[in-house]
Amino acid sequence: MRLSKASLVKILCFLFVISSTKAGSIDIINRCPFVVWAAAYPGGGMRLSPGESWPLRVDGDKPGRIWARTNCVFNESGHGKCETGDCGGVLHCQNGGKSPATLAEYRLGEANKSGPAFYDISLVDGFNVPMEFSPTSPQCTRSLTCAANINDDCPTEWKVPGGCINPCVQGGCGRPANYTRFFKDRCPDAYSFGLDDRSSTFTCPGGTDYKVVFCPNDILQGLDCQFWFNCRSHI
Ligand SMILES: *[C@@H]1O[C@H](CO)[C@@H](O)[C@H](O)[C@H]1NC(C)=O
Ligand SMILES: *[C@@H]1O[C@H](CO)[C@@H](O)[C@H](O)[C@H]1NC(C)=O
Ligand SMILES: *[C@@H]1O[C@H](CO)[C@@H](O)[C@H](O)[C@H]1NC(C)=O
Repeated sequence: MRLSKASLVKILCFLFVISSTKAGSIDIINRCPFVVWAAAYPGGGMRLSPGESWPLRVDGDKPGRIWARTNCVFNESGHGKCETGDCGGVLHCQNGGKSPATLAEYRLGEANKSGPAFYDISLVDGFNVPMEFSPTSPQCTRSLTCAANINDDCPTEWKVPGGCINPCVQGGCGRPANYTRFFKDRCPDAYSFGLDDRSSTFTCPGGTDYKVVFCPNDILQGLDCQFWFNCRSHI
């Protein structure tokens, strides 16, 4: 194949645009003994059987969030619903999900650029699935985990199928309250109210890659699945 000079220039420009797009990667991994429908905004969604993962490319400039949806049913065109984390009834999320859901929040930043870069786990929207959010590049090592059995401990009045509501969503999440302690005691790495920045937000150099792991400790293994979800209907 012979290429004209003009088309060669076009191709080179195209490659340059691709290689200069500042993107990072977040591997989303399901270690739960049940299916989760991973969700990312921006990013979409993906059904993950136990052990499966979804390598997500993310724009270093844009903030985003990742969460797990549970107990979903979707038809062939990707319409349906989930028991927790539902994002407007579609497989490929175009906005945030419904509370309660454990959230991984981030803005990755770009290599060699200053500017706000952060990663955190938030329980401000409640809890549904245990989570780890960790850098995977050698320049940054602070791993965040929220692996406590919050659904089991959840006080009856906050309990919903598949999750635990953070009551701050009703009364304002700006300040700590006695109920935010329930979440903080179990997951000290995570946000329990909106301005919980000092103990809950972390930063790595721009260009760092990450992973989000659902059920990092696999604390559900060996337990009766019924206890969290009806596993048999998921796997
Ligand atoms: C899937 O569900 C949506 C919403 O109920 C409906 O509009 C669509 O026709 C369905 N698609 C298929 C392939 O069943
Ligand atoms: C960042 O800076 C370092 C040292 O100044 C350089 O070696 C590296 O190539 C730069 N990386 C990018 C992606 O610009
Ligand atoms: C928080 O305080 C309210 C009002 O004083 C009380 O009713 C509730 O039981 C407390 N909750 C917790 C988790 O301590």
